[in-house]
Amino acid sequence: MNNPPIRLIDPIPDLYQTFMRYREAFGCSTENYRLGALRFTPQDNFADAVAASLAARSQHDNLPEDITPHSIFWLVNQSDQMLGHVALRHELNEALTIFGGHIGYSVHPDHRNKGYATYMVKQMIPLAMCMNITRLLISCDVDNIASNKVIQKCGGILENTLTIPDRPVPLNRYWIDIEQ
Ligand SMILES: CC(C)(COP(=O)(O)OP(=O)(O)OC[C@H]1O[C@@H](n2cnc3c(N)ncnc32)[C@H](O)[C@@H]1OP(=O)(O)O)[C@@H](O)C(=O)NCCC(=O)NCCS
Repeated sequence: MNNPPIRLIDPIPDLYQTFMRYREAFGCSTENYRLGALRFTPQDNFADAVAASLAARSQHDNLPEDITPHSIFWLVNQSDQMLGHVALRHELNEALTIFGGHIGYSVHPDHRNKGYATYMVKQMIPLAMCMNITRLLISCDVDNIASNKVIQKCGGILENTLTIPDRPVPLNRYWIDIEQ
């Protein structure tokens, strides 16, 4: 059977090169906590970082205090080139309830406006349903036009716009209701 043109996969150590190119496309060659793609610094072993990411799907123990269990997936094409990432947080903590929400995502700058972020967020809805999550919170800066559109295309309903100390741009908070 042919591979589909794009697909979401679990993080795997084999994709180190394309992961690094992906990160560099965002100008984050040394650290990348910002995008949520993977907690990995040059001091870390990549395979260990991937294993830790997969372990974060099921465990509470050994996670940093500010992190809840979550599932990260990478969007790849037929050549296994990394095009995007999506993270589903299985539960919210206080900080995520304000900023962050259940889902985070990014798409490589060369591959935007092709519907990839919308595809990824939509794929998280049945997964969340399996986890008995009844509504998904997604937040984004008011001036992030593409992300606001993605959330709206996925059924997000704006709850409010918050001004958060130390953040220059107010934040839109949306909920996607999941039919159970
Ligand atoms: C936000 C982001 C994930 C969107 O990814 P994407 O794959 O390009 O998104 P999609 O193609 O699914 O949808 C983008 C929508 O925004 C629209 N859009 C993009 N830039 C726009 C602009 N400047 N003005 C108006 N609409 C714009 C697109 O036309 C599309 O809408 P449409 O389908 O109605 O035409 C991507 O821009 C990104 O990675 N940004 C940096 C990280 C980030 O902001 N992550 C989200 C944090 S909340």
